[in-house]
Amino acid sequence: MTPTALEDAQKDSRPPAKLQTEEFRVGRPEVVGPEVPESPFPITLEGKVQRGFGRGGKDLGCPTANLPDESITPMSSVAKTGVYYGYAQVIQPDVPSGLRRADIKVLPMVMSMGWNPFYKNERLTAEIHIMHEFQSDFYGYEMKAIVLGYIRPELDYTSREALIDDIEFDKRVALNCLQRPAYQSYSKDPFFEKVELNGVL
Ligand SMILES: Cc1cc2nc3c(=O)[nH]c(=O)nc-3n(C[C@H](O)[C@H](O)[C@H](O)COP(=O)(O)O)c2cc1C
Repeated sequence: MTPTALEDAQKDSRPPAKLQTEEFRVGRPEVVGPEVPESPFPITLEGKVQRGFGRGGKDLGCPTANLPDESITPMSSVAKTGVYYGYAQVIQPDVPSGLRRADIKVLPMVMSMGWNPFYKNERLTAEIHIMHEFQSDFYGYEMKAIVLGYIRPELDYTSREALIDDIEFDKRVALNCLQRPAYQSYSKDPFFEKVELNGVL
């Protein structure tokens, strides 16, 4: 059986990752997984957003919010490394912030849990890219996420452009997958906070 991400992390070295091939690229499906989320999904995660290496935004045009190690365990203990999709929400802090109301809605996300083989990271991370244009950073703010499905394994790449293309494809797959009614309904899950519109919920 494929080891969970946590089992991989308990070994001494980074797990091996397959190199992305042309065959993989041209054969990618636009929608993946069942019509209804299946075990171990849904998985709920929450934690304070941490700074990663900052390469997601700078190198890949895909900024990611990193979750602290201790808040990854509910997922790493039951799921293998790879790329996943679901919904996420940045929680409005009590102090004044640069966040707009549109920024604190429940939004579609893609998530990478693994060792970023392209960058040869030395530890397991979980990074969430929320599909939304934020006008300001939200480091240190609380984030909640519901992971609903698996897209693909994490891969190694011979070029940055090939990784960027796959991430763009992942975003499309995630949006297609979330269109399905049984997935869409999780955007209204009581786990997320209600956003008030001028005092009206
Ligand atoms: C949807 C998605 C898919 C990703 N897939 C891979 C992958 O297959 N291989 C890989 O090495 N990194 C992958 N990454 C991780 C990026 O390498 C990572 O987000 C980047 O290094 C930024 O990390 P940083 O913010 O810590 O600098 C993926 C990231 C996202 C958001």
